Amino acid sequence: MLIAGNWKSNCDLVMGKNLASSIVKSIKGQTLNCQIAIFPPFTCLNSVSNILKNSRISLGAQDCSEYNGGAYTGEVSAGMLLDVGCKYVIVGHSERRIKHGETSKQVRIKTLNVFNSNLKPIVCVGETEKDRDLGKENDIVKKQITSSIPIDAGAKSLSNLIIAYEPVWAIGSGLTPTINEIERMFKEIKKNLKLHLKEKYVDDIKILYGGSVNKKNSNEILSLKEVDGALIGGASLNAAEFSSICLEIYNKE
Ligand code: 13P
Repeated sequence: MLIAGNWKSNCDLVMGKNLASSIVKSIKGQTLNCQIAIFPPFTCLNSVSNILKNSRISLGAQDCSEYNGGAYTGEVSAGMLLDVGCKYVIVGHSERRIKHGETSKQVRIKTLNVFNSNLKPIVCVGETEKDRDLGKENDIVKKQITSSIPIDAGAKSLSNLIIAYEPVWAIGSGLTPTINEIERMFKEIKKNLKLHLKEKYVDDIKILYGGSVNKKNSNEILSLKEVDGALIGGASLNAAEFSSICLEIYNKE
């Protein structure tokens, strides 16, 4: 189980350091049955990395470049993220796909770069409200999976793959799919991963749910057998709420 907090484009340095320190403090000495990672903006990574040293919380970045360094002004490579202490990188978040026109081909290249830097990618997929109204959610998610995952990455890398299913209409809206809808989509994703990849890696691949996860709904969502964790936006900016989601005991079989 992985609980991941995506801070998005929030927090200046003082706020970021305070938020990270508060989460570390709340978790310290407590029994945990999940892994925790936080994803601050690039500007906070180095300071937060120092705060997380000797804690049980890992560091992640929200994106990386499709290039591995060189004359690409403004780009941050996967290797630089490893250097600053990251363990995870989010790739293909819908806010990048939609607001920055990022294609699945670019997501696939970024994912490969993340693997090649010995980091774990969290590849985001999810349908828009329009896709869903047209009954196309399964097709869209299948297409995103097949075109965003580099099947040539090798077994060792692919077993480190993490998928986040984040329906676009659920992000920041306070809306979530029903538990049955989440369960159905997760089964569909697993099926598509099995078709796309070799069967043997698929059981190692974690699938997270993201989209309006908060203290009130986290227990029910995370209790689903198919759900391996959550990617949390808004609620991860509140240290008390995020920590209490992490500290909950989920009744997994
Ligand atoms: P919210 O939890 O704010 O809906 O954001 C979800 C998300 O986009 C995480 O990556």
